[in-house]
Amino acid sequence: MRGKQDILVVETAAALADRAAHLFREIVEAAVAARGRSAVALAGGSTPRKMHVLLGQDPISSAIPWNKVHLFWGDERCVPVESPWSNFGCARKDLLDHINIPMENLHPMPGTLPPEEGASRYEKEVPEVFDLVFLGLGIDGHTASLFPGHPSTAAQEGKRKVIPVRGGAPFAARLTLTFAVLNRARNVVFLVSGKKKAGVAKSVLEDRDKGLPAAQVHPVSGNMVWILDRDAASLLPQELLNGTSPR
Ligand code: 6PG
Repeated sequence: MRGKQDILVVETAAALADRAAHLFREIVEAAVAARGRSAVALAGGSTPRKMHVLLGQDPISSAIPWNKVHLFWGDERCVPVESPWSNFGCARKDLLDHINIPMENLHPMPGTLPPEEGASRYEKEVPEVFDLVFLGLGIDGHTASLFPGHPSTAAQEGKRKVIPVRGGAPFAARLTLTFAVLNRARNVVFLVSGKKKAGVAKSVLEDRDKGLPAAQVHPVSGNMVWILDRDAASLLPQELLNGTSPR
Protein backbone atom coordinates (compact mmCIF):
# COMPACT_ATOMS: atom_id res chain seq x y z
CA MET A 1 0.00 0.00 0.00
CA ARG A 2 1.48 3.33 -1.01
CA GLY A 3 2.35 5.72 1.77
CA LYS A 4 0.85 9.16 2.01
CA GLN A 5 1.88 12.42 0.39
CA ASP A 6 1.79 15.70 2.26
CA ILE A 7 2.23 19.11 0.72
CA LEU A 8 3.21 21.66 3.33
CA VAL A 9 3.48 25.33 2.50
CA VAL A 10 5.40 27.63 4.81
CA GLU A 11 5.84 31.37 4.52
CA THR A 12 9.58 31.77 3.89
CA ALA A 13 12.80 29.96 2.98
CA ALA A 14 13.85 30.28 6.62
CA ALA A 15 10.61 28.62 7.77
CA LEU A 16 11.19 25.86 5.20
CA ALA A 17 14.65 25.16 6.62
CA ASP A 18 13.28 25.10 10.16
CA ARG A 19 10.43 22.73 9.28
CA ALA A 20 12.79 20.43 7.38
CA ALA A 21 15.32 20.35 10.22
CA HIS A 22 12.62 19.34 12.70
CA LEU A 23 11.39 16.67 10.29
CA PHE A 24 14.97 15.37 10.01
CA ARG A 25 15.12 15.05 13.80
CA GLU A 26 11.70 13.38 14.04
CA ILE A 27 12.43 10.79 11.34
CA VAL A 28 15.93 10.02 12.61
CA GLU A 29 14.67 9.60 16.19
CA ALA A 30 11.97 7.17 14.99
CA ALA A 31 14.47 5.20 12.89
CA VAL A 32 16.97 4.90 15.75
CA ALA A 33 14.19 3.84 18.14
CA ALA A 34 13.03 1.18 15.68
CA ARG A 35 16.33 -0.09 14.24
CA GLY A 36 19.15 1.38 16.29
CA ARG A 37 20.48 3.50 13.45
CA SER A 38 19.31 5.74 10.61
CA ALA A 39 20.40 6.26 7.01
CA VAL A 40 19.77 9.67 5.50
CA ALA A 41 20.57 10.94 1.99
CA LEU A 42 21.12 14.69 1.84
CA ALA A 43 20.21 16.72 -1.22
CA GLY A 44 22.61 18.90 -3.13
CA GLY A 45 22.13 22.38 -4.49
CA SER A 46 21.41 25.54 -2.52
CA THR A 47 17.92 24.98 -1.09
CA PRO A 48 18.88 22.54 1.69
CA ARG A 49 21.85 24.58 2.91
CA LYS A 50 19.88 26.65 5.43
CA MET A 51 18.54 23.40 6.88
CA HIS A 52 22.06 21.96 7.08
CA VAL A 53 23.20 25.01 9.07
CA LEU A 54 20.27 24.62 11.50
CA LEU A 55 21.06 20.91 12.00
CA GLY A 56 24.52 21.94 13.16
CA GLN A 57 23.18 24.37 15.75
CA ASP A 58 21.40 23.91 19.08
CA PRO A 59 18.69 23.27 20.02
CA ILE A 60 18.22 20.83 17.13
CA SER A 61 21.77 19.55 16.84
CA SER A 62 22.07 18.31 20.42
CA ALA A 63 18.73 16.48 20.07
CA ILE A 64 20.07 14.31 17.25
CA PRO A 65 21.99 11.06 18.05
CA TRP A 66 24.68 11.74 15.44
CA ASN A 67 26.61 8.60 16.40
CA LYS A 68 23.61 6.62 15.07
CA VAL A 69 23.08 8.67 11.92
CA HIS A 70 24.70 7.64 8.64
CA LEU A 71 24.80 10.45 6.09
CA PHE A 72 24.81 9.75 2.36
CA TRP A 73 24.24 11.99 -0.64
CA GLY A 74 21.51 11.73 -3.27
CA ASP A 75 23.86 12.99 -5.91
CA GLU A 76 27.26 14.59 -6.35
CA ARG A 77 29.09 16.55 -8.95
CA CYS A 78 32.36 14.84 -9.97
CA VAL A 79 34.56 17.65 -8.72
CA PRO A 80 37.10 17.95 -5.89
CA VAL A 81 35.58 18.31 -2.41
CA GLU A 82 37.20 21.74 -2.19
CA SER A 83 35.19 22.94 -5.22
CA PRO A 84 32.24 25.25 -4.44
CA TRP A 85 30.23 22.86 -6.63
CA SER A 86 30.80 19.88 -4.34
CA ASN A 87 27.62 18.92 -2.49
CA PHE A 88 29.68 17.14 0.16
CA GLY A 89 32.02 20.12 0.42
CA CYS A 90 29.07 22.48 1.04
CA ALA A 91 27.57 20.11 3.63
CA ARG A 92 30.93 19.86 5.37
CA LYS A 93 31.13 23.65 5.65
CA ASP A 94 27.47 24.08 6.70
CA LEU A 95 26.99 21.05 8.96
CA LEU A 96 29.68 18.37 9.25
CA ASP A 97 32.33 20.70 10.70
CA HIS A 98 29.87 21.61 13.47
CA ILE A 99 28.67 18.21 14.70
CA ASN A 100 30.27 15.31 16.50
CA ILE A 101 29.58 12.56 13.95
CA PRO A 102 31.92 9.57 13.58
CA MET A 103 33.91 9.61 10.34
CA GLU A 104 32.65 6.10 9.55
CA ASN A 105 29.11 7.52 9.52
CA LEU A 106 29.91 9.82 6.60
CA HIS A 107 29.41 8.34 3.14
CA PRO A 108 30.30 10.94 0.52
CA MET A 109 29.93 9.91 -3.12
CA PRO A 110 33.40 9.20 -4.60
CA GLY A 111 33.21 12.10 -7.04
CA THR A 112 36.90 12.11 -7.83
CA LEU A 113 36.95 8.54 -9.21
CA PRO A 114 36.12 7.85 -12.86
CA PRO A 115 32.29 8.16 -12.78
CA GLU A 116 31.47 4.56 -13.73
CA GLU A 117 33.91 3.28 -11.08
CA GLY A 118 32.54 5.74 -8.53
CA ALA A 119 28.97 4.61 -9.20
CA SER A 120 29.90 0.93 -8.80
CA ARG A 121 31.83 1.70 -5.61
CA TYR A 122 28.98 3.70 -4.05
CA GLU A 123 26.40 1.04 -4.92
CA LYS A 124 28.16 -1.22 -2.42
CA GLU A 125 27.81 1.43 0.31
CA VAL A 126 24.19 2.47 -0.24
CA PRO A 127 21.67 0.85 2.12
CA GLU A 128 18.82 -1.17 0.64
CA VAL A 129 16.33 1.21 2.28
CA PHE A 130 16.94 4.79 3.34
CA ASP A 131 15.02 6.08 6.34
CA LEU A 132 15.03 9.54 4.79
CA VAL A 133 15.94 11.02 1.42
CA PHE A 134 15.96 14.77 0.87
CA LEU A 135 15.46 15.95 -2.71
CA GLY A 136 15.50 19.30 -4.46
CA LEU A 137 13.66 20.31 -7.62
CA GLY A 138 15.37 21.83 -10.64
CA ILE A 139 13.50 24.29 -12.86
CA ASP A 140 13.61 21.63 -15.61
CA GLY A 141 11.96 19.11 -13.30
CA HIS A 142 15.11 17.18 -12.44
CA THR A 143 15.74 15.86 -8.99
CA ALA A 144 18.99 14.56 -7.58
CA SER A 145 20.88 14.28 -10.88
CA LEU A 146 18.05 12.54 -12.71
CA PHE A 147 17.52 14.84 -15.68
CA PRO A 148 14.64 14.93 -18.19
CA GLY A 149 15.32 12.74 -21.21
CA HIS A 150 18.23 10.93 -19.55
CA PRO A 151 17.92 7.15 -20.00
CA SER A 152 18.25 6.83 -16.23
CA THR A 153 14.57 6.23 -15.68
CA ALA A 154 12.91 2.99 -16.76
CA ALA A 155 16.15 1.58 -18.15
CA GLN A 156 17.65 1.58 -14.67
CA GLU A 157 14.57 0.54 -12.76
CA GLY A 158 15.50 -2.17 -10.29
CA LYS A 159 18.90 -2.73 -11.88
CA ARG A 160 21.27 -0.15 -10.46
CA LYS A 161 21.25 1.96 -7.31
CA VAL A 162 23.80 4.56 -8.45
CA ILE A 163 24.58 5.70 -11.99
CA PRO A 164 26.94 8.18 -13.64
CA VAL A 165 25.32 10.94 -15.68
CA ARG A 166 26.27 14.26 -17.25
CA GLY A 167 24.11 17.35 -16.95
CA GLY A 168 22.82 20.09 -14.72
CA ALA A 169 24.11 23.53 -13.86
CA PRO A 170 27.01 23.39 -13.57
CA PHE A 171 27.06 20.96 -16.49
CA ALA A 172 29.25 18.23 -15.11
CA ALA A 173 29.82 14.52 -14.73
CA ARG A 174 27.73 13.46 -11.76
CA LEU A 175 26.74 10.46 -9.70
CA THR A 176 23.13 10.00 -8.66
CA LEU A 177 20.89 7.61 -6.80
CA THR A 178 18.33 6.05 -9.13
CA PHE A 179 14.55 5.99 -8.85
CA ALA A 180 14.84 2.40 -7.63
CA VAL A 181 16.52 3.66 -4.46
CA LEU A 182 14.45 6.82 -4.06
CA ASN A 183 11.20 4.88 -4.35
CA ARG A 184 12.25 2.33 -1.72
CA ALA A 185 12.84 5.02 0.91
CA ARG A 186 10.72 5.10 4.05
CA ASN A 187 10.50 8.88 3.79
CA VAL A 188 11.17 11.23 0.87
CA VAL A 189 11.17 14.98 1.55
CA PHE A 190 11.28 17.50 -1.30
CA LEU A 191 12.44 21.02 -0.44
CA VAL A 192 11.36 23.70 -2.91
CA SER A 193 11.92 27.41 -2.46
CA GLY A 194 11.53 30.55 -4.54
CA LYS A 195 9.36 32.07 -7.26
CA LYS A 196 11.44 30.52 -10.05
CA LYS A 197 10.31 27.05 -8.93
CA ALA A 198 6.57 27.90 -8.98
CA GLY A 199 6.02 26.75 -12.57
CA VAL A 200 7.82 23.43 -12.24
CA ALA A 201 6.20 22.77 -8.86
CA LYS A 202 2.81 23.12 -10.57
CA SER A 203 3.91 20.86 -13.45
CA VAL A 204 4.94 18.16 -10.99
CA LEU A 205 2.32 18.43 -8.26
CA GLU A 206 -0.79 19.49 -10.15
CA ASP A 207 -0.15 18.44 -13.75
CA ARG A 208 1.84 15.36 -12.69
CA ASP A 209 3.89 15.63 -15.87
CA LYS A 210 5.50 12.19 -16.05
CA GLY A 211 8.16 13.54 -18.40
CA LEU A 212 9.66 15.25 -15.36
CA PRO A 213 11.91 13.09 -13.19
CA ALA A 214 10.62 14.67 -9.97
CA ALA A 215 7.13 13.47 -10.92
CA GLN A 216 8.48 9.91 -11.12
CA VAL A 217 9.42 9.83 -7.44
CA HIS A 218 6.71 7.81 -5.66
CA PRO A 219 7.85 5.79 -2.65
CA VAL A 220 6.38 2.30 -3.02
CA SER A 221 5.34 2.15 0.61
CA GLY A 222 7.07 5.12 2.20
CA ASN A 223 5.78 8.60 2.87
CA MET A 224 6.51 11.66 0.78
CA VAL A 225 6.42 15.23 2.03
CA TRP A 226 6.79 18.31 -0.15
CA ILE A 227 7.80 21.41 1.80
CA LEU A 228 7.48 24.59 -0.27
CA ASP A 229 7.71 28.21 0.66
CA ARG A 230 4.90 30.57 -0.33
CA ASP A 231 6.71 31.74 -3.48
CA ALA A 232 7.36 28.23 -4.80
CA ALA A 233 3.75 27.21 -4.06
CA SER A 234 2.23 30.34 -5.61
CA LEU A 235 0.80 28.53 -8.68
CA LEU A 236 -0.59 25.52 -6.83
CA PRO A 237 -4.36 25.29 -6.41
CA GLN A 238 -5.57 25.73 -2.84
CA GLU A 239 -7.08 22.24 -2.74
CA LEU A 240 -3.61 20.72 -3.06
CA LEU A 241 -2.08 22.60 -0.16
CA ASN A 242 -1.39 21.61 3.42
CA GLY A 243 -3.19 18.37 3.14
CA THR A 244 -2.52 14.69 2.91
CA SER A 245 -3.38 13.28 -0.45
CA PRO A 246 -3.35 9.71 -1.66
CA ARG A 247 -0.68 9.22 -4.30
C1 6PG B 1 22.37 19.02 -7.52
C2 6PG B 1 21.10 18.82 -6.77
C3 6PG B 1 19.92 19.15 -7.61
C4 6PG B 1 19.23 20.27 -6.88
C5 6PG B 1 18.29 21.01 -7.78
C6 6PG B 1 17.76 22.25 -7.07
O1 6PG B 1 23.38 18.43 -7.12
O2 6PG B 1 22.36 19.81 -8.46
O3 6PG B 1 20.98 17.64 -6.16
O4 6PG B 1 19.03 18.11 -7.86
O5 6PG B 1 18.53 19.72 -5.76
O6 6PG B 1 19.02 21.39 -8.94
O7 6PG B 1 18.88 23.07 -6.78
P1 6PG B 1 18.70 24.41 -5.92
O8 6PG B 1 18.28 23.96 -4.55
O9 6PG B 1 20.07 25.04 -5.92
O10 6PG B 1 17.64 25.24 -6.60
